[in-house]
Amino acid sequence: MANEHAHKPNGGPETAGEVVLGIETSCDDTAAALVRRRPDGTAQILSNVVWTDHDDHAAFGGVVPEIAARSHVERLDLVVARALREAGMAIADIDAVAATAGPGLIGGVMVGLTAAKAIAMTIGGPLIPVNHLEGHALTVRMTDRAEFPFLLLLISGGHTQLVWVAGLDDYRRLGSTIDDAAGEAFDKTAKLLGLGQPGGPRVESAAVGGRADRYDLPEPLKTRPGCDFSFSGLKTAVREIAVRMTDAEGRMAGQDVADLAAAFQHAAARHLARRTGNAMELAGVASGQGRLVVAGGVAANCTIRAILNTECECKGWRLIAPPAKYCTDNGAMIAWAGAERLAAGMAPPIDEALAFAPRARWPLAPPPEGRAIGGGRKGPKA
Ligand code: KG4
Ligand code: ZN
Repeated sequence: MANEHAHKPNGGPETAGEVVLGIETSCDDTAAALVRRRPDGTAQILSNVVWTDHDDHAAFGGVVPEIAARSHVERLDLVVARALREAGMAIADIDAVAATAGPGLIGGVMVGLTAAKAIAMTIGGPLIPVNHLEGHALTVRMTDRAEFPFLLLLISGGHTQLVWVAGLDDYRRLGSTIDDAAGEAFDKTAKLLGLGQPGGPRVESAAVGGRADRYDLPEPLKTRPGCDFSFSGLKTAVREIAVRMTDAEGRMAGQDVADLAAAFQHAAARHLARRTGNAMELAGVASGQGRLVVAGGVAANCTIRAILNTECECKGWRLIAPPAKYCTDNGAMIAWAGAERLAAGMAPPIDEALAFAPRARWPLAPPPEGRAIGGGRKGPKA
């Protein structure tokens, strides 16, 4: 991947600030990046390398944890070396290392965190174990200099949540999915339509030639107030239509696939926007002051971004969405979360960091009072 900003090796204001190496291995992407946080709080992304090989998992119809963990072991050294090379830096030039410590597939998280511990011991610098969800949450502060507070709609393969972000490490969950995560629903829809993986981008491409109004899909939780989400009913409705449209050879006509992909995408986007609209009302922010941040892999979807933008315009809010490549998993978001914690004096003492155990589950914020935690592939567990 391209070096985004040239590194200036000769001192001066261009090199002021801490350089953090970020490592991300919580799912199937092996990623590493170098990010500088300047003293004024702005970011310089020195490199951002993401290695994903969907073919590894293609035959199994989804990510296989053991295969993912093994490929992280094989690739992480190369990915880190490439991130350093693209930034024009040596390992000794970095000030700190940050790694995803959860939530995620435990084998992969172990690989990344263990490598980060070894690097921290080599450089004698701080190690910041990062919550993957915090990485997504803070990305807009790196890419768009977004100020606190903001309402966060976090939509990824394992999580779908609305979180009030008052400041660093100050998170309050307003709602979450009661069954599937949004990305999971896209991935399952792709599978039903025979589109393969990664599901989200494939459904989005298939929907380009489709008519969203041909199929009338149900609106989830239509009569229930609040900020929770549900995607399992949509998935069932898609399955029923797909079965009806499939011929004796197990094939669906191209136009039917396109129309159903478009209908699903539109229904998912409308649901996300409605529930987010409810959260905006709950937030009680003065007119013209509200900021909605959308993050996570599904935030790369153009239809979802457009419908959220319309919702924001109606309510006098501003939508802040990172560039698509920083929505899906990457090392820069982990480096940045580490850099923010480092700057705030929140990096743990090195002995504590070296003893930090990887976590399969690690909620960003507790659920609202008296409520069971919502669902999702990594969600209910998180
Ligand atoms: O944040 P992410 O890269 O990994 C997790 O933390 O889960 O999100 C991956 C999810 C996958 O379910 C993928 O299908 C979905 O994000 N996704 C999309 C798009 N790009 C990725 N969903 C809809 N439209 C997209 N363009
Ligand atoms: Zn993610």
